[in-house]
Amino acid sequence: MDIDQGQRKIEWARAHMPVLQRLREELMQEQPFSGYRVAICLHLEAKTAYLAMLLSDLGADVAIAGSNPLSTQDDVAAALAAEGVSVHARHGCSAEEYDAFVEAVAGTRPHLIIDDGGDLIGLLHDGRPDLAEEVLGGAEETTTGLLRLRALGAEGRLAFPVLAVNDALSKYLFDNRYGTGQSVWDGIVRATNLVVAGKHVVVAGYGWCGKGVALRAMGLGARVTVTEVDPVAANEALMDGCQVTTMERAAPEGDIFITVTGCRDVIARRHFERMKDGAILANAGHFDVEVAVGDLADLCGAYTIVREGIRRYTRPDGARLYLLGEGRLVNLACADGHPAEIMDMSFALQLLALKYVAENPGLPPAVYPVGDDIDRRVAALRLEALGVTMDMLTEQQRQYLNSWKT
Ligand code: ADE
Repeated sequence: MDIDQGQRKIEWARAHMPVLQRLREELMQEQPFSGYRVAICLHLEAKTAYLAMLLSDLGADVAIAGSNPLSTQDDVAAALAAEGVSVHARHGCSAEEYDAFVEAVAGTRPHLIIDDGGDLIGLLHDGRPDLAEEVLGGAEETTTGLLRLRALGAEGRLAFPVLAVNDALSKYLFDNRYGTGQSVWDGIVRATNLVVAGKHVVVAGYGWCGKGVALRAMGLGARVTVTEVDPVAANEALMDGCQVTTMERAAPEGDIFITVTGCRDVIARRHFERMKDGAILANAGHFDVEVAVGDLADLCGAYTIVREGIRRYTRPDGARLYLLGEGRLVNLACADGHPAEIMDMSFALQLLALKYVAENPGLPPAVYPVGDDIDRRVAALRLEALGVTMDMLTEQQRQYLNSWKT
């Protein structure tokens, strides 16, 4: 394994993550994670490796598993292991291996958790409740993970507090929208090496991630159709200049389909049956359930790998459908995930959320919002790092805003 290459990737990421660097300078002396075991389940690429190294520098004993079999970069994982972090991940691992890696990380008896998608926290609840008792709390990165944790909470089964990092403004307005918006196209363009301009792109789901994907598709010169189940989001898509229709109707029209819903079977057999020859299918949601890959196999039989990251399925009538990244997160399966500057903010929130949990032991089990102070601090640190200044309210203005009088 090319450890040097992994180290260079981490160094490049570090150099473009000024917020984390500032937090490092500020907290190095304090060592806020000294004596804590931190378990991480995140996409194991360079930005994540830098976060793990930083937590370790700040005193934590860190163990990490990848949060998707295709997002782990083995050179980065090897470089991280060489830094003394306990690494449990392998690119392309089987489902059983993946579970074993997450279990190994849970087995380090963590005090604090960082999760992406809820697999680690889920395992601690369903598989190792004995270990969940020792956990002070955690932080969750994604919309999907929070949906799962809130479902666990609604059943009264959540065993420890979790901070909803995904719901912080400094997270979803940037990571979900601009991060996903850019990295999904990075994945599609790297995988296919085809032009986007002039194509008809169908985006399923118009949450913050879907908005980003659609926005960047327009910027690349595509015509964009959105499918939605929420009438407010559907109206937003219309007013942002997209067409809105059903997947049933979009299926025969689209050149590139991208699912960003968090739901399952968004594109299924009845849609595959109607698609054009050459249609490209990609998923940007956390789990590989949005494009029903089983239906594709039932309809088309065996696939052929036609280029790295691209499976060709051929329908009985000869039409070819191309699936990117096995239907897993295309931005991580076919590229490097979000840009470093974006993950800088998301991971700064993770770090400060975890510090908050460590400093507030005994919080009742629930999903908590990240404090506004942390949220605005991360945004302000980023502006500071960029050298961008902004206005401040005068005392008179502050009083005016807090008064009912005009
Ligand atoms: N890199 C590390 N974690 C990521 C995430 N959740 N999304 C995109 N890129 C990432």
